[in-house]
This record gives sequence, C-alpha cells and structure tokens, in this order.
Amino acid sequence: MMTASDDPWLRADAEFPSGGTLEEQIQYLIGYATLAPSAHNTQPWLFGTGPNWVDVLADRARALPVVDPHDRELTISCGAAIGIFEVAARRFSLQATIALLPDPEYLDHFAQITVAASKPPDEGEVVLFDAIKNRRTDRSAYFMEGFPDDLAPACCAAVETAGASLRFFEDSPAIKTIAGLVAEADRLQFEDPNFRRELASWVHSTRLISRDGMSGAGFGMPDILTPAARFVIRTFDLGNNVAAADEKKILAGSPALALLTSKSDGVVDWLNTGRALAKMLLLLTSRGYTASYLNQPIEVGALRPALREAAGVTALPQILLRIGRSEKMPAPSLRRVLSEVMITT
Ligand SMILES: Cc1cc2nc3c(=O)[nH]c(=O)nc-3n(C[C@H](O)[C@H](O)[C@H](O)COP(=O)(O)O)c2cc1C
Repeated sequence: MMTASDDPWLRADAEFPSGGTLEEQIQYLIGYATLAPSAHNTQPWLFGTGPNWVDVLADRARALPVVDPHDRELTISCGAAIGIFEVAARRFSLQATIALLPDPEYLDHFAQITVAASKPPDEGEVVLFDAIKNRRTDRSAYFMEGFPDDLAPACCAAVETAGASLRFFEDSPAIKTIAGLVAEADRLQFEDPNFRRELASWVHSTRLISRDGMSGAGFGMPDILTPAARFVIRTFDLGNNVAAADEKKILAGSPALALLTSKSDGVVDWLNTGRALAKMLLLLTSRGYTASYLNQPIEVGALRPALREAAGVTALPQILLRIGRSEKMPAPSLRRVLSEVMITT
C-alpha cells in the first residue's frame, strides 16, 4: 500500500528533516527533484547520496530509442531534475553546487551535486520553490490573450542562469511557420509504426501499478484501461487526438511559443537545457502560466534546420514550448516512489 510519504507529490514540506543529518536532508530533496518533467514521463534518473552530496545518474533502461535515439531528451529530463533540486535546496537554506559529468570515464554519471549550509532563501526563491508542486504539463488550449511586458525578459533571465538561451514568440509571424513545422513533424512521427509502438508502451492507465508514463487523459483521450484498448493505440494512428497534430489547433490555443536553445549539442548542453527548462517552468507556474511541448520539429532531425530558420536563431533548438494560461490545472502525473530511484553507491 502506498502512503502519502511514498508519493513525492503528497509529502508535506513541513516534514523536511531540519534536525536530521545533511544526507537525510539531501534524500528528502530528491523527492522534489523527481517531480521534474521528463519525456513520456519516463523519469530516467537514479540518485545515490553521500554525507554531503548526491550523484545523479542516467537510467538508460528508460530511454526512448525511437523518438530520442541519442538520449538527448533523456539527458534534458535529468537536467530538469537537477534544476528542481537546486531550487528545493535553496528553500531550506542550502546551496547546491553542481559538477556536470564529474567522471569522464563514466558518462552515465551526469552530475555530482555538493550541498552545504547557506543563507536563508529570499522571497523570489521561496516563490519558485512553492511552484514545484503546482507545475504541470498542460496540453489544453490556452486563453488567447497578451502577456505582461516583464514575463518574456524574466523567462530569458531564468534560462540564462543555467547557460541556455530563449527566444519568446508573441504576436509574431514566426508562430504560424513554426506551427506548420510542428504539424508536419507530428504527421511524420505518427506515420512510423515504431514511434507509435514506443509511445503506446508509455501510455498506461492511471489504475495500473506502474507509476511512470502518461495516462491517456493527459493526451486528451479517455484513459486507457484495458489491454484491448492499449492494442488499439498501438494499431491505429493517434494523430487526430494529439494536441500537436494540426496547425490550426496549435495556433488557436497557443498565445506564445518559446524556444530553448544551446550553443552546441553535447551532454553538458543538454543537462544545462534541462536545468534552464526547470527554472523557466517554475517561474511561469509562479506567475500563473503553464506550458506544454511542441518538440516534434526538433525530434525529427531533418526539420531542425527549418525550425532554426523559422525562429531566426543560429543556436541549436532543444525544447519548443507553447505558453499561456489555461482554465484549470490538470491532475499531477504519477511519480515512482523514492526507493525505486535510489541506488547505493
Ligand atoms: C525533454 C522533454 C520532452 C518532452 N516532450 C514532450 C512532447 O513532445 N510532448 C508532450 O506532450 N509532452 C512532452 N514532455 C512532457 C512530459 O510528457 C511530461 O513532463 C510528463 O508526462 C510528466 O508530466 P508533468 O510534466 O505534468 O509532471 C516532455 C518533457 C521533457 C522534459
């Protein structure tokens, strides 16, 4: 039986072990890190702790070889978990110092985070922390309205602290061109039976035991309850049911797009993109905004140059988001319990 303390969404912030050892505190913080977004909710991370550090490792058994053949999104997902850990540490007057790829011989070791006592958080840090449990990937149509003038610059600043860059598109002709590329890439992906099979294998019923993957409801479909229904997903094109399938739908529900880019395409760039993504999503959440992903023209490598051109960037596109406000916050997606993501080193 799961208890509230097993589910990282439900654990009370007040239960942080202030009087415990630093290692116990680090273990508590890992619960927040696991609330990070990840591609297909694969949660491709493992953590090992020491007296004043945590190691973040790739769990490549959770890779998505069809949609993500180079583990780029897997790495970005782990970077997002690192970013959330950093934010959570500050809330409890701790400072996380990140060493990316600390062991060149062992490339699954993405980061060693050293944690030390520090000054109390400022108001902005507390606000970001409070957003951790309210952040969701929200695939619904957003209100078509303008944004406060300071939102895009604040997002750019949040992203730059992690060494990534951001282009924000609002009221821009580029949105239509980019939406067309998303729709084209989405069609190409769904034409591939291997892509459909891989996606289907991560779409579970929320009533199944597995605490990863996505429920059908998260994709705007009725939840998938039976093996027969899952067979249908594997066999038929889901294109019409997925939010990104059609350009008009994207344009009608996306008041702004945001493109996260990096200078190059290495593991460190991807980890920093994930850290930047986490910080930006928390900032958006704290301001009442939400986001969802339109990564298709990045995942379909042949369309990435066209995306660069449409977006007017020379850097490499890593994550494409639609941003806005929606009617209601979706339910949280499931997370594995802490004991499943902890390793003893
Ligand atoms: C690197 C990365 C890529 C993602 N790609 C997509 C995507 O292409 N389409 C989508 O709908 N969601 C995408 N997501 C969102 C995940 O599906 C989502 O984070 C996961 O299901 C957990 O849900 P949550 O974000 O609400 O906690 C992506 C997330 C990450 C971190």
